Amino acid sequence: MKNIAIFASGTGSNFDALINAVENGDLPANIKLLVSDKKSAKVIEKAEKKGLPTLVFSAKDYASKADYEAMIVENLQKHGVEWVVLAGYMRLLGETLLGAYPNKIINIHPSLLPAYKGKDAVKQALEAGEKTVGVSIHYVDAGMDTGQLIAQESIHLTGRETEFEVMEMVHHIEHQLYPRTLAKLFKN
Ligand code: GRF
Repeated sequence: MKNIAIFASGTGSNFDALINAVENGDLPANIKLLVSDKKSAKVIEKAEKKGLPTLVFSAKDYASKADYEAMIVENLQKHGVEWVVLAGYMRLLGETLLGAYPNKIINIHPSLLPAYKGKDAVKQALEAGEKTVGVSIHYVDAGMDTGQLIAQESIHLTGRETEFEVMEMVHHIEHQLYPRTLAKLFKN
């Protein structure tokens, strides 16, 4: 069993998938903490409903990234967190967090990296006319979606799908691939 924290600032569909996998015994982890930098994020309500501790902060209340990351690391250590799982956390990580958890921070991104890094990756791919899109899971480094790849899964399109439909397909893959990939990592 690994103690993990999930960092998320969106609707939390991946958060749900990870919680379900833990509850079903498919993911050998204890989710100790949800960290979010967005007070209005839906995922916070979801964590609260599950009775999970949350750490919600506003980056603008801190003088620097190093300052708020030091506060986060302190909380992670207090909860005995061993791995950090990003699921829609939209900030680049700095040396403070990366240094505290070397090779123990994982992210999921909705493209076949190294293509289409950053925001709106599905939209970027569709606008470029891609017929194959997908999902990547990777270690996190200081760059934007640049860390070493762990797993990828492709989705082949007819070209007639709407962006919404492609997003649904991407989420569907994410919700299977993330728990499965983390389970493999945690067993090693
Ligand atoms: C996912 O598409 C993930 O790949 C990206 O952020 C999105 C989060 O979605 N990093 P959700 O909040 O889990 O629904």
